[in-house]
Amino acid sequence: FFQVPNPINEPIFSYAPGTKEREQLANKIKELRAQEIEVSMRINGKDVRGDKKIAMNPPHDHKHVLGYYYEGGKKEIQDAIDSALSARKEWASLSWEKRAAIFLKAADLSATKYRMELNARTMLGQSKSVYQAEIDAACEWVDFLRFNVHYATQIYADQPISSPGVWNRVEYRPLEGFIYALTPFNFTAIAGNLPAAPALMGNTVVWKPSPQQIYSADLLMKILEEAGLPKGVINLVFADGPEAGDVVFGHKDFAGIHFTGSTKVFQLIWQKIGNNISNYKSYPRIVGETGGKDFVIAHPSANVPALVTALIRGAFEYQGQKCSAASRAYIPKSIWSATKELLIKELATIKMGGTEDFGNFFNAVIDARAFAKITGYIDLAKKSSGVELVAGGNYDDSKGYFVEPTVFVTDDPHFVTMEEEIFGPVLTIYVYEDSEWEKTLQLVDSTSAYALTGAIFSQDVYALSEAAKVLENAAGNLYLNDKCTGAVVGQQPFGGARASGTNDKAGSYLNLLRWVSPRTIKEVF
Ligand code: SER
Repeated sequence: FFQVPNPINEPIFSYAPGTKEREQLANKIKELRAQEIEVSMRINGKDVRGDKKIAMNPPHDHKHVLGYYYEGGKKEIQDAIDSALSARKEWASLSWEKRAAIFLKAADLSATKYRMELNARTMLGQSKSVYQAEIDAACEWVDFLRFNVHYATQIYADQPISSPGVWNRVEYRPLEGFIYALTPFNFTAIAGNLPAAPALMGNTVVWKPSPQQIYSADLLMKILEEAGLPKGVINLVFADGPEAGDVVFGHKDFAGIHFTGSTKVFQLIWQKIGNNISNYKSYPRIVGETGGKDFVIAHPSANVPALVTALIRGAFEYQGQKCSAASRAYIPKSIWSATKELLIKELATIKMGGTEDFGNFFNAVIDARAFAKITGYIDLAKKSSGVELVAGGNYDDSKGYFVEPTVFVTDDPHFVTMEEEIFGPVLTIYVYEDSEWEKTLQLVDSTSAYALTGAIFSQDVYALSEAAKVLENAAGNLYLNDKCTGAVVGQQPFGGARASGTNDKAGSYLNLLRWVSPRTIKEVF
């Protein structure tokens, strides 16, 4: 086996005032705002337009039109499946070097020629700040592509032992059928990786992005095609979810789903697959990451400024719309007043507004539905007894879907906002008695059905490791003295268990192994 270039994480551009990249990005944003683009599905390498024309708007400026996409229906989903199935044989038999080179080239195109446009589309279409777009659409997407190639090479090289006169070997074949990638709005990188990872392993894919991410998905698809992805390997479709699901999960050649989205949708999908199980050629692979109710717990020895930074960045970057976002915190009484004071002081410095102003840390939530859901929780908390508003709590959707970073403190550790996933900028804090540290660890573990991320703050290393042990099943990604968001590909393989998903660790060899069906061959000479 050949060696692939050793991956390094794509360096993050600063976009500091006066830099050339700041000017380039600002110009790209201006250029895109002045146009209305038309986005088609891509089936078998061709533009396909459905009957339904739908506008794409920036969440922070929802009357502005960025362009339109054309939604299809059952016919287009069926066509995309047919296209994936007919491209399968040729793609699967293409040499690994050729497949790898396509994805490495896509990484280079994304890091250079298309970097500004990937960021601009993510900032405008998904309302991400410049930094949040850069670590997602530029860096994480590029990292997924490069690290996947690196890990796949290791997988292919992993072979059983042989003996004189006997050659044992394993072929890591793609799955027999097509893969369905159902992808979220909140990370351009994840939306791209969900179809790209199975395709890299030789599979062909039907990709249905979230409607709120189509503006950047369109560019990801163009980049993959420009890098040389043959027609039919990834088919990009826009359709109503349940309608598409009926066609996909009812198909005998459905071989697997790569999903990031809500627990509810994932469970419905799993049930649909279960109901069809005897019709499939093989047992489908079900790989999903489905959200969280991510915690921060501080020990009385915690460093307060570090804790406050983690609370603010963990809970409010990208408006709390990361499945990894901190949304419940447990603070001991002895440090609560210092924590509260600093939290209020720091939150007062946060600038909120459109993504075109690079000075805004905080932008809009994704759409009207999210706005209604999040503000519903805020209203409920505001009028509940035993709950105090610490910061924020205001919202306004006249221009964009803006919800202030909001912090509540509750005397009930089972208050609804301590338990349910809100997927927005709402952090609820429970203040515990210092003497109840052990009891509080149990509380953190048992309060939520999810187990995605969590953070423990303590300067006492014994308490830190004790907490990590008690909380061993409470998070797939645990952070000790750091915020609970921002896993980096190749550094912190990402994913959680319990109601948070199948924990197949995106961007690692563990995930790629789900997209192969190994054949063992013994040959005797
Ligand atoms: N990987 C992201 C993070 O760690 C969430 O999907 O924040």
